[in-house]
Amino acid sequence: MITDSFGRVHDYLRISLTDNCNFRCFYCMPEEEYDFTPASRLMQTAEIIQLAEIFVANGVKKIRLTGGEPLVRKDAAEIITALGKLPVELTITTNGTRIAEMLPVLTAAGIKSINISLDTLQPEKFFLITRRDVFHQVRGNIELLLQHKIRVKINMVVMKGLNDNEITDFINWTKHNPIQVRFIEFMPFSGNRWTSNKMFSLAEILAIIEKDFTVLALKGEAHDTAKNFMIPGHDGSFAVISTMTNPFCDTCNRMRLTADGKLKNCLFSDSETDLLTALRKKEAILPLIEAAIWSKKKALGGQLVPDFEKIDATTIQNRSMITIGG
Ligand code: GTP
Ligand code: 5AD
Ligand code: SF4
Repeated sequence: MITDSFGRVHDYLRISLTDNCNFRCFYCMPEEEYDFTPASRLMQTAEIIQLAEIFVANGVKKIRLTGGEPLVRKDAAEIITALGKLPVELTITTNGTRIAEMLPVLTAAGIKSINISLDTLQPEKFFLITRRDVFHQVRGNIELLLQHKIRVKINMVVMKGLNDNEITDFINWTKHNPIQVRFIEFMPFSGNRWTSNKMFSLAEILAIIEKDFTVLALKGEAHDTAKNFMIPGHDGSFAVISTMTNPFCDTCNRMRLTADGKLKNCLFSDSETDLLTALRKKEAILPLIEAAIWSKKKALGGQLVPDFEKIDATTIQNRSMITIGG
C-alpha cells in the first residue's frame, strides 16, 4: 500500500499519455507559444506498462488515462490494450474527438466509463473555446458511447461570463439521457489566466439549478472529487467539483504520472519525482514512489490558500494543466 504521512491510502493513479492535444482551450494551455514535449522525452509504451505494474503491485486499483488528449498519442491503442490486462479499473478522460475510431480498443480493454470534456452545448462557443470546429463530432461520439452502454460523465468547467448561462441547458440534457454532468470550478494553473472573478462557485451553481429544479443531494463514494446530486424524473444526474470553495483533500487517494515520467503527489504540488530517469537507469522505483507520496502536503499542494480571492495565479509554482492532465 502506498500511504502518505496523514494516513491517506493512494490507490488511484492518473497517467498522462501526452501533453499534445488537438484542441487549444485557453483555460488549459499556457498563454505563450507552447512546444509539445518531443516523443523521446515521453515515457515509451513499455515504460508506461512497467511503471503501471509497479503501482498496481503496490495497491493501485484504478488507473485513469489523461493528456493533453490521450487518444492523439500514436500508440494509444497499444498502451490501452496492455493496461487493460492489468487487474485494475481502467478509465480515460478525453475531449471525445477520437472515440469512434478507438471504441473497439476501449471496449476490448474493459473500459466501462469515460469522462468527456465539453464546456458548451453551442457550436460557435465550442469553437471559441477549443479553436476547433468539431462540436457535432464530439456530440455524436457521446451518443455512440451511450448506445454502447458506456457510462459517460461530462466535465464542464464553469467560467463566469463565458458558459455560466448554460448550466440549465446542461441540466436539461440530463432529463432524457443517462449522463452525469459535472460542473467544475475553474482552477488556477500556470499561464491559464485564472482570476477569482472568472470562477463560478458550487454555491452559485446550485443556486441557479435550484431556481428551476428540485435538487436532492446523493451520498458519494469515499474518494469522489465531486458532490453528487439528482433531480427527480431525470434519467441522468449532476455533480459539482468544487476544488476552490470546498476542497476534498481529506480523502485524497490520487497520484499523477506526467507524460514525461514525473510523479506528482498532488494536482497542485510544486515538487516532482523523476521516475522515468530512474527507470532508465535501472534504479529502484518503489522507494521513490513511497517517499514522494509520504511528503504530500495536507491539502492543495500547500499552495492554494483557502480564501481563493487572495490567490494570485501568476505566483503558483506548477505546470500548466495540459501537462498534468487534470
Ligand atoms: P472520476 O474518477 O470519475 O471521479 O473522475 P475524476 O473527477 O477523478 O477525473 P477527471 O479527469 O474527469 O477530472 C475532472 C475534474 O476533476 C478536473 O477538473 C480535474 O482537474 C479534477 N480533479 C481530478 N482529480 C483531482 C484531484 O485529485 N484534486 C483536485 N483538486 N481536482 C481533481
Ligand atoms: N480548471 C478546472 N478544470 C480544468 N480542466 C482543464 N483545465 C481546468 C481548469 N483550469 C478539466 C477539463 C478536463 C479535466 C481533465 O480537467 O475539463 O475534463
Ligand atoms: Fe488531492 Fe491535491 Fe487534489 Fe487535494 S488538491 S484532492 S490533495 S490532489
